[in-house]
Amino acid sequence: MSITTCVFDAYGTLFDVAAAAREAADQPGNEALKPVWATLARDWRLKQLQYSWLRAVADDHTDFWQVTGDALDWAMEASGLDDADLRDRLMDLYFRLSAYPEVPAMLAQLKADGMATAILSNGEPKMLAGAVDSAGVGDRLDAVLSVEDVGVYKPHRKVYDMVDDRFGCAPSDVLFVSSNGWDAAHAKGYGFVTAWVNRAGEPVDRLSWRPDHILADLSGIPKLAKEA
Ligand code: LAC
Repeated sequence: MSITTCVFDAYGTLFDVAAAAREAADQPGNEALKPVWATLARDWRLKQLQYSWLRAVADDHTDFWQVTGDALDWAMEASGLDDADLRDRLMDLYFRLSAYPEVPAMLAQLKADGMATAILSNGEPKMLAGAVDSAGVGDRLDAVLSVEDVGVYKPHRKVYDMVDDRFGCAPSDVLFVSSNGWDAAHAKGYGFVTAWVNRAGEPVDRLSWRPDHILADLSGIPKLAKEA
């Protein structure tokens, strides 16, 4: 079978999750953030993911905007930042995160090649719409699928089922792309062809499955989709 459908994780894969803290650190009035923005960005992301997994295993779902705010509160406290305006600014920047530079051209190439394209994300619909809008890539995506439709986070199988429900394709027709090693691993277990975008050169996650392909960024995705 050949790939008909390319499905992308959103946060960290298409959208740069460190951009909010990095950009806020450069704004006037945020001097306290400057020395700790990288630590804050890392803690924010790690806590956001931990909270999503814990809420999934405990059957205690709340949406990803809430989880993202809860994670930011933890990360700010850990960095000694107690500033409600800064919190608002960081959440606002997170709502309209920048896409990685290669994203618009990569999605345009997939559409030119006749692929169906989609986001499949933990994000709740409004925050996904905010990021897609600010990246200006809405016209290159056939669907933006949010876990809010199934009420549980990745890597629950119900989330990956949403691709078949929307596109009516077999898992082996899907190239699933994520910068989260655990997401790429579980998507592989589900039956998708998977690409892990490993920008940071991290080790492969020790889980039951390994991604089929490992790329340094997204620019090679159109070629991979044609050849996989
Ligand atoms: C997402 C998170 C996991 O977009 O990055 O689903």
